[in-house]
Amino acid sequence: MKILFFGGTKFLGRAAVDAALADGHDVTLVNRGTTNPGLYPDVETITADLTGDLDALDGRSWDAAIDLDPTQLPRHTRRRAEKVAGAVDHYVFVSTISVYSDMSQPISEESPVYEPPETEPEEFDPELYGNLKVGSERALRDVFGDRVAIARAGLIVGPHDPTDRFTYWPRRLAEGGDVLAPGSPSQPVQFVDARDLGAFIVRLAADRTGGVYNATGPAEPLTLGEALERMAGGAHLVWMDDQPILDAGVQPWMELPLWLPGTEYAGLCLADISRALAAGIAFRPLEETARDTLAWSLEAGEQRPTLSREKEREILAGA
Ligand SMILES: NC(=O)c1ccc[n+]([C@@H]2O[C@H](COP(=O)([O-])OP(=O)(O)OC[C@H]3O[C@@H](n4cnc5c(N)ncnc54)[C@H](OP(=O)(O)O)[C@@H]3O)[C@@H](O)[C@H]2O)c1
Repeated sequence: MKILFFGGTKFLGRAAVDAALADGHDVTLVNRGTTNPGLYPDVETITADLTGDLDALDGRSWDAAIDLDPTQLPRHTRRRAEKVAGAVDHYVFVSTISVYSDMSQPISEESPVYEPPETEPEEFDPELYGNLKVGSERALRDVFGDRVAIARAGLIVGPHDPTDRFTYWPRRLAEGGDVLAPGSPSQPVQFVDARDLGAFIVRLAADRTGGVYNATGPAEPLTLGEALERMAGGAHLVWMDDQPILDAGVQPWMELPLWLPGTEYAGLCLADISRALAAGIAFRPLEETARDTLAWSLEAGEQRPTLSREKEREILAGA
């Protein structure tokens, strides 16, 4: 089928485009041509800034659109949706689990969500991430009704991840030695390989499936302890309570990825994914994600700073 992608050249979009091409779909991309230009020389790219003039989309039609939300503002989402409402049969939008307003409890698709901001900011504001996504979701429901699928993604991981929120672990564990393992080994963790999520959103488009889906993994509950053990190789995990790590000033999740102390975010990694499973989401083994992420990361070089080895050593020395 013919699929139009808004975005498609950085991380999740790239994985979804790869999945669509592997499935034999006819792909058209819309982006500014600045992120990884030349990545898909054989794929048609409509060069356009989605905050501006959308006339380049006139007179065309596709079976489905997949929207990676490149502009992150509801007014732009609405504009492009209205532009293609008569030109595509089905629409798939990538939202986030951050739409849920109470992360302390397990999350289902019916859990309460934030309100869209009363006044939309001029530019994307990370503080309003969840609110803005809710605004975009509502705009799409207005325009497409039941012709839209919304994938509320959890933590997305894997090769080409620009956030380094998971990549830390395969890298650190591959270095070996004593590795600071934070908090409780029984803490639940959820994340999804971009390639598995990419394949899922293409499937939602191909099957013309509508509805809202928590889109994260794995299929069966996973703990931080099991996840780290399965990636550990020869490394030695040294478990330490939350408090001394917090006292050392380590920032959970961003500085020491997957670590969620306290109760405020206790539900973040307890999303019910039964709907997505029924709609066909499937997961590769964690070991494969870790191996491929490590290989990519070593080649990609410098990444966003996470817990330094020096700070880790100091914390371990105080144990
Ligand atoms: N990372 C996570 O853990 C996580 C979790 C939940 C949800 N999400 C969501 O997942 C999505 C993934 O994004 P991604 O970066 O991986 O997608 P992507 O589609 O791989 O990359 C972003 C694309 O947007 C294009 N773009 C950016 N600004 C544009 C503009 N003004 N006009 C036209 N095109 C523009 C970029 O190309 P050019 O720069 O060349 O224009 C690029 O192709 C986002 O919606 C994010 O909110 C992420």
